[in-house]
This record gives sequence, C-alpha cells and structure tokens, in this order.
Amino acid sequence: MAEVIVVGSRKAAGALVAEAIERLVGTRPDAVLGLATGDTPLPVYRALAERVRAGLDLSAVRGFALDEYVGIPVTHPESYHSVIARDVVGPLKLNPAAVHVPDGRTLGIETAGERYEVAITSSGGIDLQILGIGTDGHIGFNEPGSSFASLTRVKTLTRQTREDNARFFASIDDVPVHSITQGLGTILRAKRLVLLAFGAAKAHAVAAAVEGPLSASVPASAIQLHPRATVVVDEEAASMLTELEYYRDAFAQKPIWDPVIL
Ligand code: F6R
Repeated sequence: MAEVIVVGSRKAAGALVAEAIERLVGTRPDAVLGLATGDTPLPVYRALAERVRAGLDLSAVRGFALDEYVGIPVTHPESYHSVIARDVVGPLKLNPAAVHVPDGRTLGIETAGERYEVAITSSGGIDLQILGIGTDGHIGFNEPGSSFASLTRVKTLTRQTREDNARFFASIDDVPVHSITQGLGTILRAKRLVLLAFGAAKAHAVAAAVEGPLSASVPASAIQLHPRATVVVDEEAASMLTELEYYRDAFAQKPIWDPVIL
C-alpha cells in the first residue's frame, strides 16, 4: 500500500517533496520528473524554486507533464504548455528543451499519445511522478472508468472536472472538453509516485484511492499497485482515512534507513 504522510500545511508538504527531489537530483542530476499541473503541486514547485535561488542546480533535470488540454492554443495562458513554462520551467531554471508536454493540437492528435510514450521511454522513464487528485478520483486526466493499463491518449473530461477547472477560465463553457493524458499504465511505470492532496474537498477521493478497492471507477486507486507510492496530505484531505492513526504511527516510527519518498 501507499505510504501516507500527514503534514500540517501545504508548505510543509512542498518542503518534504522538494527535499526528496533534491536528494534524487543529487544522485542523478538528469533525473526525469513527471510534472502535474493545477493548484496542488504548486507548494512543491515553490519550495524547489527557493532551493534553486539558494544554489540548487536543476539545469540537467528533464520533465514530462502529465497532461494537456486538447484544442486550445499552446499560447493560451491556461494551456499546460503555458502553465508548465510559467510555474515550473522558469522558476526552477529547467532547460525548456528538456521539458515535454503532450501535444494537444488537433492536427496530428491521433498519433500524439504514441509519440509521447516514445519520448518517455526514450528518456529512460520517469524517476519521480508528482500527482494531484481530482475530486472524482482522477489522476492525470484519467477519468473514472479509465483502464489501469491505459497509455497516453485522449480522454473526455467529466462535467465534474470541467466544473472544478472552470476557475482557471472565464466560464465552464471555455474549459476544453478533451484532454490528452498519460495513462494509468504510463503513471504506474514511473519509478516513484508522490500523490499530494489538500483540503476537505479531496478527502473522499483520497480515502477511496488509498483504502478503497482497486477500481477503474476510482482511477487513483491504481497507486495501490505501485511498490513505491507516497501520499502526502494535509489533515483535511486525510480526514476520511480509516487507518489514519496507523499512518501517523508508521511515520513517527519510520526507521532511519528508510528515507521519506525513497
Ligand atoms: C493536472 C492533473 C490533475 C490534477 C487534479 C487536481 O496535471 O493531472 O489530475 O492534479 O485535477 O487539480 P488541483 O490540483 O488543481 O486540485
């Protein structure tokens, strides 16, 4: 099962994951990161940016975004090309040529998933995949019903996801209907998974992902199949976990030889 770490704040979560990434890059300067967008990973990117300002060199790090909207121009401020450039590549001083985002242009979309899979495989694979979780249990844009074996492909967004993401657009009608997303099978190939979740709105999805039965209806439950998955949550997002005391205890008793987010 996933290791669950309950933190006091988003900032603490960011620091914890940034620390693990710094450790990874220390042993592998050209590590490959899987990059989520949305609000959730921002504390991680902010904590890393702080470390970069203090001298951490991430210039050889490579990256693959989880997903992209289909059919909005890459120059749109809410395209994930723009978001990754603004929130990740710039502040972390990554090499823009080494950071990839799925190609959501409609021209050539039939081959975009396969091209992305080839790019990930050719890089040697993702070392650490950062994940958020949707209120409907999605990871990436793998909406409920997604196959655990799925690879990068086009998915239709649920009404719930479009409502959740309407805050980034003028109205829900402007939220694209389709996305191109790493599949659950793609995500499971990453060497480590770190899923973050904050706030009460995520509590149900977190509990279903971590403790519920494996089910395509809760795509995030696929993380139970991964041998090195860590879930970093605040108190609110953790509030519906049945085994909360056990997770707290396991973390408090964590052996010294077992670093956080191995
Ligand atoms: C974004 C992504 C999504 C988000 C999820 C949560 O790249 O893959 O799965 O992680 O929709 O979004 P936020 O973090 O905005 O609550």
